[in-house]
Amino acid sequence: MSAALLQVHDLVVDFSGFKAINGMSFTLQPGEIRVLIGPNGAGKSTFCDTIIGRVPAASGRILFKDQDITRLSEHAIVGRGICRKFQAPGVLPSLTVAENLAIAARQDRRWWRNLGRALPAAERAQAEAVLEQVRLVDRRDVIAGELAHGEKQWLEIGMVIATDPDLLLLDEPTAGMGPAETARTADLIKSLAGRHTVVVIDHDMAFVEQLAAPVTVMHQGKLLKEGSVAAIRADAEVAAVYLGRTKHDAAA
Ligand SMILES: Nc1ncnc2c1ncn2[C@@H]1O[C@H](COP(=O)(O)OP(=O)(O)OP(=O)(O)O)[C@@H](O)[C@H]1O
Ligand SMILES: [Mg+2]
Repeated sequence: MSAALLQVHDLVVDFSGFKAINGMSFTLQPGEIRVLIGPNGAGKSTFCDTIIGRVPAASGRILFKDQDITRLSEHAIVGRGICRKFQAPGVLPSLTVAENLAIAARQDRRWWRNLGRALPAAERAQAEAVLEQVRLVDRRDVIAGELAHGEKQWLEIGMVIATDPDLLLLDEPTAGMGPAETARTADLIKSLAGRHTVVVIDHDMAFVEQLAAPVTVMHQGKLLKEGSVAAIRADAEVAAVYLGRTKHDAAA
């Protein structure tokens, strides 16, 4: 047994001859928060898609809790305890905040079978705890479709937390947020450390600073650098891969 939660060895993803992931290796310890950055097209989203089983690996291995999950279906991988929040909103817009969390907390993932039925006490408690964690208690009875953009994102993160995964993959959770919402998102993600392991993809360096977590930089489908925020900021090779892009592009 190794201590690592996730180990990715020499992963390759081939889209009809284009290697979007080209020899990526990566290790995560349980309970850590890791930031994944890299220029547009570096392969960050594809990397998460492959971990969760949505995009097949051409070669390489993905081990989760020391078990090979490389060829498992997305359904099976979610069942093992990995959950991914996508860039597109996944809330059910006609239900309230509390109802969305209750559905996500269902142990039976075929939640539509249970729609409208009473929630078992343990799952109700779980949904309540998440409501507090994402600080939406006073918005519990608001229809999700009417939430502000930031609130919708927190609800979605809450829905991921409610499934109690060991590993959360968050792809650009601050997209479209202002500075205050971004800061609150950083606090929320930091509060997950320990109980959950989290990979956060983001371009916003202010947000990355606030997370104050180790950073992995991807470039052209593979690992470029790993280190503290300060070390990555000072790294000439990292700067070079972002070169030619304006500051605005890098923050977009
Ligand atoms: N289904 C696909 N078929 C072909 N090429 C793809 C597919 N999905 C992604 N790509 C390509 O793979 C590369 C990596 O894309 P990916 O979306 O993983 O990058 P990213 O690092 O998430 O970028 P961004 O920062 O813009 O979100 C890009 O060149 C993209 O065009
Ligand atoms: Mg992406």
